[in-house]
Amino acid sequence: MRHFLTTEDWSQEDLNQLLVQAAALKENPINDRLAGKSVALLFLNPSMRTRTSFQVGIQQMGGIAVVLQPGQDAWGIEFRSGEIMDGTAEEHVSEVAQVLSRYCDLIALRAFPGFQNWEDDRHDNFILAMAEHATVPVVNMETIVHPCQELALALTMKEKLGDLFKKRFLLTWTWHPKPLNTAVANSALLIATKFGMDVTLLCPNEEYLLDPRFMTAARRNAEINGGSLTVSHNIQEAYTGAEMVYAKSWGALPFYGHPDEEWPLRRQLRQFIVDEEKMALTDNALFSHCLPLRRNIKATDAVMDADYCVAIDEAENRLHVQKSVLLNLLNC
Ligand code: CP
Repeated sequence: MRHFLTTEDWSQEDLNQLLVQAAALKENPINDRLAGKSVALLFLNPSMRTRTSFQVGIQQMGGIAVVLQPGQDAWGIEFRSGEIMDGTAEEHVSEVAQVLSRYCDLIALRAFPGFQNWEDDRHDNFILAMAEHATVPVVNMETIVHPCQELALALTMKEKLGDLFKKRFLLTWTWHPKPLNTAVANSALLIATKFGMDVTLLCPNEEYLLDPRFMTAARRNAEINGGSLTVSHNIQEAYTGAEMVYAKSWGALPFYGHPDEEWPLRRQLRQFIVDEEKMALTDNALFSHCLPLRRNIKATDAVMDADYCVAIDEAENRLHVQKSVLLNLLNC
C-alpha cells in the first residue's frame, strides 16, 4: 500500500505518470472510476481550494467524500503516542485512523504545524501517525509540505513552459505581516529540483533559509536530476533571467514560536513584494502563488492581474492532479 505524504518518496518518473494522467483527466473530467469508494477528508485547519477541489474531484469520479473538521464537527484528535489525554482531544489518532479505515478507502489529512516547537514539527509526526495507524492509503493535504500543490505547480509549468529541465525557477520569499508555514516553500524547492530546474531561493538572509531537511533534499534532487539550487539574498540578481517566479512568505525558523522577536526584522522587509519592476528583470517569466494571497502585500494588483500570472491555472490544476493521485493510490 502506498501513501502520498511527500514527493521525497516518489521518483520523477512516478510523478510524471501522475501528471500525464492528470492531463488526461483535465480533458475528460467525468468518469465512474471511484464508484463505490469513499474518502475521508480531515481538516485541522481552514481551506478553500483543497477542500473544494478534493470534494468536487471525488464527486466527478463517482465517489463519496466525507469532510470532517476534528475539534469542530468531529472529536478533537491526539496525535502523540503515550500522552495522558487530559487536554481537549477526545480520541487518539490510533482509533481515528483504524475506524476511518473500516469506513473509507482513503484518508486525507490537513494538519499544519503548531508554531510552538520546530524541533517537534519538523518531523511531520501527525501525518506519519495517521499513516502508521491507517490500513488504507493516506494523502497529505498540507502539513510541513504540500505535495498536492507541488503537482499542480508542476502541471501548470509543464503546460506553459514545456520540458522543465534547466528552466530557471525563482522561489522568492515575500513580505507578509505574520510568520506563515514553510510548507509550500519546502514543496516548491522539492518539486522544481525534482524536475531538474535551475532553482534560485531568494530570501532576506540566512535566518529565512528553509529547514536543512528540505535544503538537503532539494540539493540531492538537483544532483540526481541535473538541475541546481542557488541561494541568493539579492533581489535584483535573483530575478534577472528567471523564467518562473514563485512567491511565498514564511516565518524565519530561528524565531519559530517567538513571532514577536522576528517582527523587528520582518517589518523592514516590505521590499520583497512581487511587483512589475521586479518582473521586468526576468526573461518574460510566469508568476504564480499557491493562494490565498494578500494583494499589495505579497504581490501587487498589477502582477496578479497580468497575463503572466498563472495562479488561477495552478489552482484549477489542484483538481486534476488530486484526482490522479486518488486513482493511483486506489488502483482504480
Ligand atoms: N493552496 C491551498 O492549499 O489553498 P487552501 O488553503 O485554500 O486549501
